[in-house]
Amino acid sequence: MKGVILAGGLGTRLRPLTLVTNKHLLPVFDEPMIHYPIECLIKAGIDEVLVVTGGEHAGDFLRLLKNGKHLGLSDLHYTYQEGEGGIADALLLAEDFAEGGRICVVLGDNLIQGTIRSSVERFLAQPSGARLLLKEVPDPERFGVPRFENEQIVEIHEKPTQPPSPFAVTGIYMYDQDVFRMANTLSPSERGELEITDVNNMYLQRGDLQYDTLEGWWSDAGTFQSLHHASNLVAQTGANNDADELISGQRSKGLEDGK
Ligand code: G1P
Repeated sequence: MKGVILAGGLGTRLRPLTLVTNKHLLPVFDEPMIHYPIECLIKAGIDEVLVVTGGEHAGDFLRLLKNGKHLGLSDLHYTYQEGEGGIADALLLAEDFAEGGRICVVLGDNLIQGTIRSSVERFLAQPSGARLLLKEVPDPERFGVPRFENEQIVEIHEKPTQPPSPFAVTGIYMYDQDVFRMANTLSPSERGELEITDVNNMYLQRGDLQYDTLEGWWSDAGTFQSLHHASNLVAQTGANNDADELISGQRSKGLEDGK
C-alpha cells in the first residue's frame, strides 16, 4: 500500500510563522512537523509516499526531504494543490500515484504516540472499503465526529456544535481505489472545501467503513495551542512509538478477521 501525506494549505492560523515557510515544516519539538507523518507511514510498512503540498513555500519541502531516502523512504513523490480546495480536493491529486491500489492518507499536521501498523494490517484484511482511526477528545466540536448506534458508526458530522459523541475522526484514513470516484462527485461545503467527511459518509452509506480507536495520544498542530501541545507531548513521550497495544480492537460492523 502507498502513502499520501497532505501538506498543503496556507496555514493562516499560524501566521506570522507561515509567512516564511509552509506550516508542515515548522518545528514540533525537535523535528519539522512533516517528519512525524512520514515516520508514521514508514513504521506501518509504507515507504512509497506522495506529498501533496501547496501555497507559496512548496519549494522548501525539496530542500528538507530531498528524495526521502535519508528518512527511510524508498520513493518520494511530490505534487502541488492549487488554492484551498480541502482535503478531498488534495486527495484527488493522488489518483495517478495510487495506480488503482489502496492508499493510507495522513494529514501532515497530525501526530500520534503509537504506530498504526495493526490498523493497516486490519485494513489490508478487509475485502474493500475504508478504515478510520478515532480518538476520544475533550473538544470534539473542532473535528469530524462520529455518531454511533450499537457501537457502529452511522454518520459523521463535520465540526458539529453539538457533538454526537466524544470522539474525533483523526486525520489518518485508509481507502480502497473507489475513493477517487467518490471524491469526484463532491460539491464544496459551506467553507468552500471538498470535505473528506463527505467521502467517509459515502463509504458509511454503502456499509463499507471500519474503524479503530487510538489509545495513545493524538494531536493536530495547526493552531498555536495545538502546536504547543503537540511539541510538549513529543518532548514527554516521543511520537510513533512501536506499541501495537496503543490501538484498541475495532468494533465496527461486518469484519470478521479475528483481530
Ligand atoms: C480535518 C477534517 C476533520 C478531521 C480533522 C483531523 O479538519 O475535516 O474531519 O477531524 O481534519 O485533524 P480541518 O483540519 O480541515 O479543520
